[in-house]
Amino acid sequence: MLIRHPELIPSSEITPKECYLNRRRFLSSGAFTAAGLALGGGILSAREAFAGEKLQTVKSPLTTTGEELTSYKDITTYNNFYEFGTGKSEPAIYAKDLPVRPWTLRVEGKVKKPLTFDIDALLKLRPLEDRVYRHRCVEAWSMVVPWIGYSLSEFIKQCEPLSSAKYVQFLSWYDKRYIHWPGQTGIHWPYSEGLRMDEAMHPLTLFTFGLYGEALPNQNGAPVRVVVPWKYGFKSAKSIVAVKFLDHQPETTWNDLASDEYGFYSNVNPNVDHPRWSQKTERRIGLPFYEQKRTTLFLNGYADQVGSLYAGMNLKKDF
Ligand code: MTE
Repeated sequence: MLIRHPELIPSSEITPKECYLNRRRFLSSGAFTAAGLALGGGILSAREAFAGEKLQTVKSPLTTTGEELTSYKDITTYNNFYEFGTGKSEPAIYAKDLPVRPWTLRVEGKVKKPLTFDIDALLKLRPLEDRVYRHRCVEAWSMVVPWIGYSLSEFIKQCEPLSSAKYVQFLSWYDKRYIHWPGQTGIHWPYSEGLRMDEAMHPLTLFTFGLYGEALPNQNGAPVRVVVPWKYGFKSAKSIVAVKFLDHQPETTWNDLASDEYGFYSNVNPNVDHPRWSQKTERRIGLPFYEQKRTTLFLNGYADQVGSLYAGMNLKKDF
């Protein structure tokens, strides 16, 4: 998915270290409490649910695989988070600068009324569930991840979408002062992804706050991301700041960059190859080399649960 190399980035485009350090100091100085009050949710507790903090969870009936878990180390050091670099190991280094508190989520578009949610209120909205899902990247690698969250549908109900809302768009956090190697990817920020309303409302679609019993590490999309286990990983937008309900299909980052390579649906499908590589098999990260190769399953193995969403569709055309 990479387009431009770090060596090609003019130094004028790189955020000076001092700038982001100053901002971090400001954010941790308590100067933001007024923003918390303005939301009517009381003063935010900046201590709540930072990366690595334990989250209380309940077992989920929707855990869908008994496969061996990918190690915490691999899940948190082999990442795609282009805001923080294009190398797999860069997000774990640079996403430390992501200011995860205070954090609000704007809800706009086809809803009864626009709303703003405070992240700590969302954390408490529903019991947090442990859900182990297969995680398949379009680059043909995969993991098995014990995520933590609750069904996105629970959040959507709070948003009170109108009947004209047919799609949901997720916009990721974006601050050009923090972006590493801006311009390198050709991405038009902010990162945008979207789902059809019935996909978003499916119980497997997870509003995700943590993994391995702890709040999400920044590089995995803290403080909140979406996980759609039957789609390629890029549909799962990280570090979401806005959710828009729309009556039309939203523009999405990878579809916008290369529509012939990354369709809007992007369901995991071994029968539709990427124009530049096969999708029939995948490499399970972290396993010994001779055990890595897996056959890719249609809808990532979730066909029984979500296949009916696509009944009658030609998934080679609407890939
Ligand atoms: N969300 C944002 N905001 N920025 C990104 O670059 N990358 C996507 C997706 N969500 C991305 C993103 C891609 S390509 C993948 S495969 C998954 O995040 C990777 O999630 P992980 O790093 O937790 O495995």
